[in-house]
Amino acid sequence: MKVFCVVLVCCCAPALCDAATFMKTVGEDFRFSFGFNRSQTGAGLLCRNSCRSDDVLMVAEGGGAKSGRYEVRYEDGEDRVQLVIRELRRSDSGRYRYAEVDSASPRPHLDFEIRVRGMCAGGVISAEPRVHSSTEGGNVTVRCSLNAARRDRKFFYRTDQEETLVEAFGGRAASSRFSIQHDGGRTFSLTITGLKMSDSGRYRCGVGGPNAYNTCLEFEIQVSGPFILSRVGCLMVVVLFLIFLLLLYSWRMKKSHSHLSNEES
Ligand SMILES: *[C@@H]1O[C@H](CO)[C@@H](O)[C@H](O)[C@H]1NC(C)=O
Ligand SMILES: *[C@@H]1O[C@H](CO)[C@@H](O)[C@H](O)[C@H]1NC(C)=O
Repeated sequence: MKVFCVVLVCCCAPALCDAATFMKTVGEDFRFSFGFNRSQTGAGLLCRNSCRSDDVLMVAEGGGAKSGRYEVRYEDGEDRVQLVIRELRRSDSGRYRYAEVDSASPRPHLDFEIRVRGMCAGGVISAEPRVHSSTEGGNVTVRCSLNAARRDRKFFYRTDQEETLVEAFGGRAASSRFSIQHDGGRTFSLTITGLKMSDSGRYRCGVGGPNAYNTCLEFEIQVSGPFILSRVGCLMVVVLFLIFLLLLYSWRMKKSHSHLSNEES
């Protein structure tokens, strides 16, 4: 019965069976190159679902075109099309179609599906300690005790952003103020230098797993103003204020005393 249903679905909706499916991870680029006989118009559409008017993502003519995160490239002299979608988001998951513009009905087309996984689809562990505090302008290093081999993909990102800050496939990688260092053994560490107040937040470090089922460790970074200076500064203000009050008090006492002695004499 089940088999019959599957066969029925396939026969009624061939696209469900034909569509190639691509597994990707948030932040990655999607690239797909395929043979496609282009008509005289030479123009193509990239769209979601089955190309209704509000499904169209972009139209590409001539040598190809680029629009936002989408790109269609035609390889010169060849009947090949290359599609690119940059910096994938979770919301990019779904069915897509590349179709010819203005050609006979049914329009020649190619369907495919993209499934975009979260950066840590294999699970998230809470780091111990969870909170790492440091001061503005300083550095912070967090040890990522995940089971990482030297050649595994190791990455690091902020949970409120869908892009990695830095990723490494070997012993070390750095990108502006962020770096990853494989310590040897199964752990690696990551460092942020020149901390800014805006670096405060939740982060995850992760290790690539099969089919992008990455395992991650979550922690927080708290950046405070220069700690010692602010404490000392605060204390000094309090002490100065107390001295001021004392002076004021003794000055008033003296004044009232002299007032009294003036009246007495
Ligand atoms: C393009 O058309 C030629 C000739 O009709 C055919 O042999 C070839 O398989 C087609 N290629 C694709 C990718 O459809
Ligand atoms: C932070 O790291 C940088 C680069 O490794 C180093 O030059 C700097 O002295 C460090 N700063 C502190 C406060 O440790």
